[in-house]
Amino acid sequence: MPKPIPATLIPGDGIGPEIVDATLAVLDALDAPFEWDRQVAGLGGVKAAGDPLPPATLDSIRRTRLALKGPLETPSGSGYRSSNVRLREEFKLYANLRPAHTLIPGGRYDNIDLMVVRENVEGLYTGYEHFIQIDNDPHAVAIATGVNTRQGSRRLLEFAFEHAIAVGRKKITVVHKANIMKALTGIFLETAQDLYEKKYQGRIAMDTVIVDACAMKLVLNPWQFDTLVTTNLFGDILSDLVAGLVGGLGMAPGANIGTDAAIFEAVHGSAPDIAGKGIANPIALLLAAAMMLDHCKLADQAARLRRAIDETLNVDGIRTGDLGGSATTAAFTQALIRRIGG
Ligand code: NAI
Repeated sequence: MPKPIPATLIPGDGIGPEIVDATLAVLDALDAPFEWDRQVAGLGGVKAAGDPLPPATLDSIRRTRLALKGPLETPSGSGYRSSNVRLREEFKLYANLRPAHTLIPGGRYDNIDLMVVRENVEGLYTGYEHFIQIDNDPHAVAIATGVNTRQGSRRLLEFAFEHAIAVGRKKITVVHKANIMKALTGIFLETAQDLYEKKYQGRIAMDTVIVDACAMKLVLNPWQFDTLVTTNLFGDILSDLVAGLVGGLGMAPGANIGTDAAIFEAVHGSAPDIAGKGIANPIALLLAAAMMLDHCKLADQAARLRRAIDETLNVDGIRTGDLGGSATTAAFTQALIRRIGG
């Protein structure tokens, strides 16, 4: 028996508990050695402990340094600050890794194999925002300040280069807007170019592209890209675009990697429109669990999980509604477990 690996489990809000249950059943079928410590956050945290990120949840992640997390609801505009952003700050989860592979052939884009590496704690997400009142309008002017540092850019870029080289990728494309935001994204571009010249030239290819052109090129010809590395806001937007190339958010996993912990999650949100109906697609969280297995050096189990997902979708033809099928979450999960067992 492999040594148990303590890990924090946050079922999350909306469809979170449904896709987390599915993922736990599949990980059990794989005999994955995780020893779960179940905690709450988001709306679940507010309801259970009066806090969207209760101290017990933070303590648990401090202890395990590893978590699998369902989506957390964040009110837009007013209300509490995103627990996801707070988790990234608290555990210095500076790198967000979002792979996108075609899982169902024959769609609008075939054979997609892309990776987005997003800076996760700096940029325009630092939360330095305020309104200025003019006359009777308290929201007459809105101001946001972005912060990118040389050190923060460098550690993210180093992570991206090292990871890309380790998994055999061929090219890194640095995405920026340094023609307009000369300081804020210029520092990221400048750091990338300097790092490449000094450390990575000859080990992997690198090019650069402006974010708006990148968005167009991804839609016209995504195969020209391999690994995209970029600042926080651009990475958030482009990784959803890339998820769209492989069939939508229901298939997109994400890993938040940092100095103090690693947190794995689906890219999508809590999908309140389908919560409780038993029809959510659990694949994004399952693929996040596969990334977690890889992170824990359990590559064989990760590969078995990915193969079983492929066979369930493409050999058995069992798919949830968002993929044009009619399977419930439970039916898809049972089919996947049969594939793992077989
Ligand atoms: P969403 O991703 O929850 O939903 C967008 C659309 O995709 C909806 O029609 C939903 O039904 C569908 N969808 C999402 N995941 C699906 C799945 N697994 N299977 C089938 N269909 C799926 O985005 P939305 O509605 O903008 O956000 C809802 C809440 O989630 C908000 O409170 C938001 O702040 C939060 N959120 C949390 C994230 C996280 O915890 N990482 C990420 C994104 C949003």
